[in-house]
Amino acid sequence: MNSYLQGVPILQDSFGRVINNLRISVTDRCNFRCRYCMPEEGMNWLDKNELLTYEEMARVTRIFARLGVTKVRLTGGEPLMRRDLHVLVGFISRIEGIRDLSLTTNGFFLSEQAELLSQAGLRRINVSLDSLDPVKFNLMTRRNYYHRVWEGIETAEKVGLTPIKLNAVLMRGINDNEIPKFASLVREKEYIVRFIEFMPIGQDDGWTIDRVVPTGEVIERIEASMGKKLVAVEYHGVQPADRYRFEDGRGEIGFISSVSDPFCNHCNRVRVTSDGKLRTCLFSLEETDLRTFLRGEASNREIEDAIVKAVLKKEKGHLINQPGFVRPNRTMSQIGG
Ligand code: 5AD
Ligand code: SF4
Repeated sequence: MNSYLQGVPILQDSFGRVINNLRISVTDRCNFRCRYCMPEEGMNWLDKNELLTYEEMARVTRIFARLGVTKVRLTGGEPLMRRDLHVLVGFISRIEGIRDLSLTTNGFFLSEQAELLSQAGLRRINVSLDSLDPVKFNLMTRRNYYHRVWEGIETAEKVGLTPIKLNAVLMRGINDNEIPKFASLVREKEYIVRFIEFMPIGQDDGWTIDRVVPTGEVIERIEASMGKKLVAVEYHGVQPADRYRFEDGRGEIGFISSVSDPFCNHCNRVRVTSDGKLRTCLFSLEETDLRTFLRGEASNREIEDAIVKAVLKKEKGHLINQPGFVRPNRTMSQIGG
């Protein structure tokens, strides 16, 4: 059922976008409570038996790899809340065709787990870090784990999970005054900071368009505070972040303009939630239940067919801040960031 281009398998949607990037959420749970993501109380967690096992996730990934997926990112909730994640990393890193395996984490467990993860075949990590100030960090995440997260980042660096990307979601009036601090950090250290526009995808996230700090404004504020221009990095490939470097070549910053300039036209990804639902867009209103296939008698070929069919219905794009926008009935932590 899958198609090939010069002998290489490709998974393509009806708009000609090639899907080679799979994001797998391994749990919906998290030990943080970031304001843009989830409230302090009142989240409903999935039962353990609803979650795909590592064997099931590996099987799905093998099927995707045969269809042409080469990149996998593990997400959550907080993926390191799931016991022995390095076992899954070991399974996936050995799958033929998977060339890039990465992880998005809040960093809390990295000081304990970075080495095991790296030995198991993890290549690199993204750490969510919305503030460089311990007090502000508390305000954003509702947890006073700032120093512990930095220990984790430093451990990850030592074991070679580099380059480390630090993801900062900006919320106007809360942490946007830290834009210059983040800009200074990338000039001093080898981290890549990525500013992500705040999206309406959390539970009780208080999203309004005024709270979004658009990329254009962030770039202006960086250039004004640093007295240096940012120049776009020439890059041929598909990725959501627009990459920039300072004009003197020192320091890289990425921008994910999910609201002001979404990358939907170049989107190359699909997601599998921790309970085994295939979603072709973060904002999908429909899902394909792979778990029922996995736990039934379905053959790999049948699962492959279901995936190809779902991908053909991949949405053109999302409509955030446009009249037709409908929030999906799951939040980012339930879908996988
Ligand atoms: N808007 C933008 N980014 C978000 N993330 C989580 N919720 C939101 C939101 N509402 C980001 C986190 C993390 C990644 C998984 O997704 O900061 O870096
Ligand atoms: Fe947890 Fe990530 Fe959500 Fe923060 S954004 S509460 S770290 S899942």
